[in-house]
Amino acid sequence: MSTYNTAFTSDNIAGVSPQVLEAMARCNNGQADPYGRDECSKQAEQMLSDVFEKDVSVFFVTTGTAANCLSLSALTPPWGAVLCHHDGHINHDECGAPEFFNSGARVLTLDGADSKIDPEALKWGVRHRVGDMHSSQPASVSLTQATETGTIYSVDEILRIGAITKNSGLRMHMDGARFANALVALGCSPAEMTWRCGVDMLSFGATKNGTMSAEAIIVFDKTLAHEMAFRVKRSGQLGSKMRFMAAQMLGYLENDLWLKNARQANAMAAMLKNGLEKISQISIIGSPQANIIFCNMPQYCIDRLLEQGFSFYHDRWEPGVVRFVTSFATTEQDIQHFLSAVHQAASFAKAV
Ligand SMILES: Cc1ncc(COP(=O)(O)O)c(C=O)c1O
Repeated sequence: MSTYNTAFTSDNIAGVSPQVLEAMARCNNGQADPYGRDECSKQAEQMLSDVFEKDVSVFFVTTGTAANCLSLSALTPPWGAVLCHHDGHINHDECGAPEFFNSGARVLTLDGADSKIDPEALKWGVRHRVGDMHSSQPASVSLTQATETGTIYSVDEILRIGAITKNSGLRMHMDGARFANALVALGCSPAEMTWRCGVDMLSFGATKNGTMSAEAIIVFDKTLAHEMAFRVKRSGQLGSKMRFMAAQMLGYLENDLWLKNARQANAMAAMLKNGLEKISQISIIGSPQANIIFCNMPQYCIDRLLEQGFSFYHDRWEPGVVRFVTSFATTEQDIQHFLSAVHQAASFAKAV
């Protein structure tokens, strides 16, 4: 079995869905206007407008970090604060890029169970030092759907966050690096999970779920689109051969590939979780609902699995805390193979 089959480090270790590669090949058809003025880009924007049941503006970028930070820069002035959960990717995992892109705006973190912003904490956050000339002013709220620990905000929870945000005059962003995983788990529509709850801009992730390197910034409030075009160019994210990014998105959306891929990733995570729950030495942390699982695992078990060539994050949190991520490319066989290795690793320790 290849290293790829035995790795659970992230969903971005998967390859590219063949349908996405086919869509890119189809688009490789002679010359086309650059910088998003081509037919593929127009088609992809229309398709996303159909998916979201709204006339949206779309900007393709190459990374989720760029999608998040460009979105937040449009929603937050340099003296502003972005409110997010302390587990937020923008807080821990973007190396200060939100502050860099926002010319100094700050990230202000909030508490909440299951990596979800607690509405009471948000009520505090939106009032934090408002009017105090010495402090960054709350300007936007960013929530991650699905969250960094694999939990999911219900539509009612997003509505509640949206109401507090909007009633306080703030803007709302959603980090949807795993948007499809959350969507299929909730079984709602993309519109219900976003702009109908007040989301102004969405980082529509696709790379983790089947594309090669295409993420989309979806602008629901079109008054922000004109300015966004310049932000994208200034940040070096305006691809000249944009048609190939758009083509990835076409392949991703056509025939509901994105939903099928997300269902597979979620189903494999559920299978893994069910298997791990049966092993007494292991305890699942929280209530994962998408394709990310955190658990506590004895160090001897971790060491044994690593020795066997399995890979997963185990050294980023407290000792013994391990993260497994499944993707659209994870198979039942991968999970069975891994679970039997975990069983053996756990019983190996009993024997020594
Ligand atoms: C929640 C979340 N947001 C955004 C990203 C975007 O990351 P990247 O810039 O690596 O595409 C990731 C990737 O791990 C993520 O997990």
